[in-house]
Amino acid sequence: MSNHVFVTGTDTEVGKTRISVALIKLLQQKGLTVAAMKPVASGCEWHGKVLKNNDALLLSQQADCQLPYSCINPYAFAPAIAPHLAAEQNGENISLELIESRFSALQSQADAVVVEGAGGWLVPLNEHDTIADLAVRLQLPVVLVVAIKLGCINHALLTAKAITASGLSLKGWVANDFLRDEQASAVIAALKQRIAAPCLGIVPTLDDAEDASRYLTL
Ligand SMILES: Nc1ncnc2c1ncn2[C@@H]1O[C@H](COP(=O)(O)OP(=O)(O)OP(=O)(O)O)[C@@H](O)[C@H]1O
Ligand SMILES: [Mg+2]
Repeated sequence: MSNHVFVTGTDTEVGKTRISVALIKLLQQKGLTVAAMKPVASGCEWHGKVLKNNDALLLSQQADCQLPYSCINPYAFAPAIAPHLAAEQNGENISLELIESRFSALQSQADAVVVEGAGGWLVPLNEHDTIADLAVRLQLPVVLVVAIKLGCINHALLTAKAITASGLSLKGWVANDFLRDEQASAVIAALKQRIAAPCLGIVPTLDDAEDASRYLTL
């Protein structure tokens, strides 16, 4: 099976980046060279004359393969709004074809590529395509990050169902238990019972410098 992975989540701010960095580390511990990609990002900041995204920087800090920034994050937008709206406001159209060509460049330089989505699974990228269409285009196995909190059971089950319906393999899901939800154990048990794919780990609240890899298996 492919070592590449597409990381999605039940929502924005659920821990996709934090978990992606840990997945890169786990793949490296298996002896693989790893590249990372954040194809589409909004909420970016100017670094000199280039808009850069903090997620993309965090991922590439952990990754082995250092290709030009435009390869790792081809679409970077300043406003922290939905990507298709940010692109529209910028007079741009997000092209899956372009992302695929950048992915191929990364793929040719590393044993594994970890790709972080934007927001959740059905986030639109342009008039027609969503994050799901991007993952399908790249034909990547998917890891779903679930932030354990009230409402996450519904979000997680809907997302898992949609991933499976897209024909991609749901490699597993991660219980990111960082919000100190009082019902966390029962919620995680309910998810384990209802999602056929394996739970790759339960990640507690970490310190800023701590990394999540020791709580995960891949
Ligand atoms: N297990 C954890 N322990 C402590 N803090 C966490 C944990 N998981 C995530 N966080 C923090 O929560 C915030 C959101 O996490 P992260 O940026 O990884 O989410 P995301 O899903 O990638 O968000 P986005 O949709 O913006 O890409 C960050 O400040 C991150 O450090
Ligand atoms: Mg992120």
